[in-house]
Amino acid sequence: MLLKANHESIAQAANVLARGGLVAFPTETVYGLGGDARSHAAVELIYKTKGRPSSNPLIVHLANVFDINELADLRNPSIAQRVQKIAPLWPGPLSVVLPSQPGIAAVEHSGLNTIAVRIPNHPIAQELLLQSKIAIAAPSANPSNFISPTTAQHVERYLGSKVEIILDGGESVLGIESTVVDLCSDKIQILRPGFILAETISELMNEEVTYATSVSGEKLSPGMSQMHYSPTTQLRFIDSLPKNVSELKCGYIAFRTQNCGLNFKPEIQMVLSENADPNQIAANLYSALHSLDQHKLDLILVDRCINSGLGMAIMDRLERAVTKL
Ligand code: TXA
Ligand code: MG
Repeated sequence: MLLKANHESIAQAANVLARGGLVAFPTETVYGLGGDARSHAAVELIYKTKGRPSSNPLIVHLANVFDINELADLRNPSIAQRVQKIAPLWPGPLSVVLPSQPGIAAVEHSGLNTIAVRIPNHPIAQELLLQSKIAIAAPSANPSNFISPTTAQHVERYLGSKVEIILDGGESVLGIESTVVDLCSDKIQILRPGFILAETISELMNEEVTYATSVSGEKLSPGMSQMHYSPTTQLRFIDSLPKNVSELKCGYIAFRTQNCGLNFKPEIQMVLSENADPNQIAANLYSALHSLDQHKLDLILVDRCINSGLGMAIMDRLERAVTKL
């Protein structure tokens, strides 16, 4: 059931969580499919609903950094210190991998001894966390290997009746998933690039921070290596046109108004930004993919952007989404 998010519907959603059910809710990055992180039944249901391989662990959401000890084992002083230093980036689009406390269903399911924790910066997510008083395990609310949803309508199309309540809080402002950073190992590593950059974390921590998840990189977050995050329509970069492109019904996702770069007229064109501003591209990219995927096209073409800063996160997602030849 899709409900406009307000005090009453959030209370209803909190009740669903309390009895082990699932609710979808907005965050500033993408919509999440939430369940009680301590309930084996709820965690089981999340994996089943998404068709997610159990090797791919879930992010657990908290309202407040003060509760982090309930989930993470911070007895190692150097890890505790890292958490203290990174905490000013919360609430925000950042998930931090830490040693886990024992007995947390969301962690036990994937058989790891670490947990990814995130404190989202979205009033509806915050209110749901506060009202339910539950640590909410929430992957993106899409079936495994599909594009993350950035509106409640995307979630409804994907999961519809499988979710008891979908809280509608409008479009996700940032539009791509949180940065995942591993603070457990000697070297701090970004496992998934996002809005929070390595440079930003490095400055705060006074430590070197590297990207493990380069597009061709080997060391990835568990479960990420095989993921495609694709639309159902074939997707290609505009510099990789098939020979028979003129016979195909094409959609085109352009990153700037000028200089379209195609020498034929696509069936539909969506422009994400006037001048390829990475913030605007990120905010609009998934919506454009969802929308073009509805148009029964043969092919979606997409621009490339610079592969640095936020552009790195955008290119990471696109490299996973393009059709593998
Ligand atoms: O922005 C987001 O992070 C959204 C919203 C809903 O918070 N959530 C999200 O969750 O994108 P999901 O499940 O789609 O992606 C979680 C990522 C996966 O790449 C997973 O492998 C990684 O986080 N991850 C989770 N727990 C981990 C752990 N213990 N160690 C390493 N990576 C982990
Ligand atoms: Mg996901």
